[in-house]
Amino acid sequence: MLIAHLSDPHVRPEGVLYQGVVDSNAQFATAIAQVNALNPRPDLVLLTGDLVDHGQADEYAALSRMLADLNVPLLAIPGNHDERHAFRHAFAGQPWLPAKGPIDYVVGDRGAVRVVALDVTLPGLHHGVMSEAAAVWLDGVLAAEPERPTIVMMHQPPFATGIPYMDPYDCREGHRLAAVIARHPQVERVLCGHVHRVMQMRFGGTVLCTAPSTTTAIALQLRADAKPASHIEPPAMLLHHWQEGRGLVSHLVPIGTFPGPYPFA
Ligand SMILES: [Fe+2]
Repeated sequence: MLIAHLSDPHVRPEGVLYQGVVDSNAQFATAIAQVNALNPRPDLVLLTGDLVDHGQADEYAALSRMLADLNVPLLAIPGNHDERHAFRHAFAGQPWLPAKGPIDYVVGDRGAVRVVALDVTLPGLHHGVMSEAAAVWLDGVLAAEPERPTIVMMHQPPFATGIPYMDPYDCREGHRLAAVIARHPQVERVLCGHVHRVMQMRFGGTVLCTAPSTTTAIALQLRADAKPASHIEPPAMLLHHWQEGRGLVSHLVPIGTFPGPYPFA
């Protein structure tokens, strides 16, 4: 099973640049085209939040037009830049969309790997929270299929990145999530967006990994007094490859065309 993981496209209304400098829509369209061209084609695309930048209807309209070109089934969760009502409207008709409340759901019929979507966002706020109710829900969902390899996806990471201007906007009460994950060793990955960078760490006994943005990268600065910044680094996605009996391998895939192929031996 092959799973493409895109994050934080921050789509803007048609013709508007992200932060006035980056054509986030064009970059997301390029990412979609690259997913469609992958061979073998992925079984699933995961989109871990911040689908649009300001939660606006005209942004979701642009997003929907772009996603119409995606030839792979999509699972999405909102981020802090999304707006839940508009998000629901954009994905109305998707079988995974819950009727009300947080966008929490499970999809297990797209291949060997089961995906649990966990909405830790708090409408109107930039940080998230792992609530006690979400922990109880997740524990029950994971207990239902203990033998299935499982991915848990969420927007804000439940750990301190060490980047001082990101950490106030983490997913709080991450210890609740870690305790649940630790009880369910079939969880192969916890996947996050939000930080616009690739990071990995051990979490609840499994591997947690964050996705790059298709638009910009949050500046990697680890000094306590560092000022918030981002850069136009090469956009990228992750590709998670499940091989029976071998496990889940996660690849970083830059988006774009690059010189080559050349012989390497
Ligand atoms: Fe973002």
